[in-house]
Amino acid sequence: MKALVLAGGSGTRLRPITHTSAKQLVPVANKPVLFYGLEAIAAAGIRELGLVVGDTQPEIEAAVGDGSAFGLQVTYLRQKAPLGLAHGVLIAREYLGDDDFVMYLGDNFVVGGINGLVDRFARERPAAQIMLTRVGDPRQFGVAELDAKGRVVGLEEKPAQPKSDLALVGVYLFSSAIHAAVGELKPSWRGELEITDAIQWLIEAGLRVESSVISGYWKDTGNVTDMLEVNRLVLESVEAQVRGQVDETSELVGRVVVERGAVVERSRVVGPAIIGEGARIQDSYVGPFTSIGAGCSVIGSEIEYSIVLPRASIAGVGRIEASLIGHDVEVTPAPNTPRAHRLVLGDHSKVQISS
Ligand code: G1P
Repeated sequence: MKALVLAGGSGTRLRPITHTSAKQLVPVANKPVLFYGLEAIAAAGIRELGLVVGDTQPEIEAAVGDGSAFGLQVTYLRQKAPLGLAHGVLIAREYLGDDDFVMYLGDNFVVGGINGLVDRFARERPAAQIMLTRVGDPRQFGVAELDAKGRVVGLEEKPAQPKSDLALVGVYLFSSAIHAAVGELKPSWRGELEITDAIQWLIEAGLRVESSVISGYWKDTGNVTDMLEVNRLVLESVEAQVRGQVDETSELVGRVVVERGAVVERSRVVGPAIIGEGARIQDSYVGPFTSIGAGCSVIGSEIEYSIVLPRASIAGVGRIEASLIGHDVEVTPAPNTPRAHRLVLGDHSKVQISS
């Protein structure tokens, strides 16, 4: 079995964070979301991985390399334009040959890995096996309709009137039967070749499509709340580890990771939390469920339940909560007079100002 990981696409829903970086590299507990997928694939015993990339190829290639760090052999497959998930399968046709494959969307996060799924697929050998999860707003996903026995009877991509709240998770297992389906597709209303339509084609052709319902799933829906929540979920399972320097006047409470080269001085960090490589925490409080990226500085401030991306600096601003702070951002207090907010905000930024 091979793996096909899709990491093209532009990530409009996570703007402004994805203006400057690939959405698959958005960090969860200081690790790109894509890496969790690659680890899950390697853990399932798969070695050969085709990585479909678009405009952000250089960035993704810099992060993933030849895959050997994950125990994978990565082949990059360039998608010239984001023409849909099934288009990703189309351009990978030669790479995949007639092998079975797991297709994994690089911006999806699934708790608990894929070993169980891969085993089940090998045992039952359906044409396709999909994962479903209950979501609040199914209109943003592919949606499945099941019959009384739990069999998939129909799939629809981003329906205006969803027939259920069961969304397609971005991890699919396919036999080579999918290629015939993909070959028949016409672009959808959004101009993409939809993998959802290809699976629907398999169902209509009388081929067997199995499903399972999972919990513990996240995908970007432009919702920072969701991102903070998945960050919390992952931090829940970190083990305390101090590789950096923590001075005597500082206190680490609970499961706190301090990465190599990080410095914590005159501060209190309450876990679960992670302080990235080379970060500096001085005269500050870092509260639970916070990921501070590599090279950040937090000085004379308080921050909790937040994600701070690499190299951002936060100094002298009191308390920050439930926030997502991008790369190289500077958060500083305004001068006292005149009393006004001074802002330099990128396109699509979201700011909440109290007072
Ligand atoms: C894609 C699929 C959709 C699926 C989702 C999961 O949506 O088309 O069926 O539910 O991934 O991440 P897209 O990210 O293209 O909007």
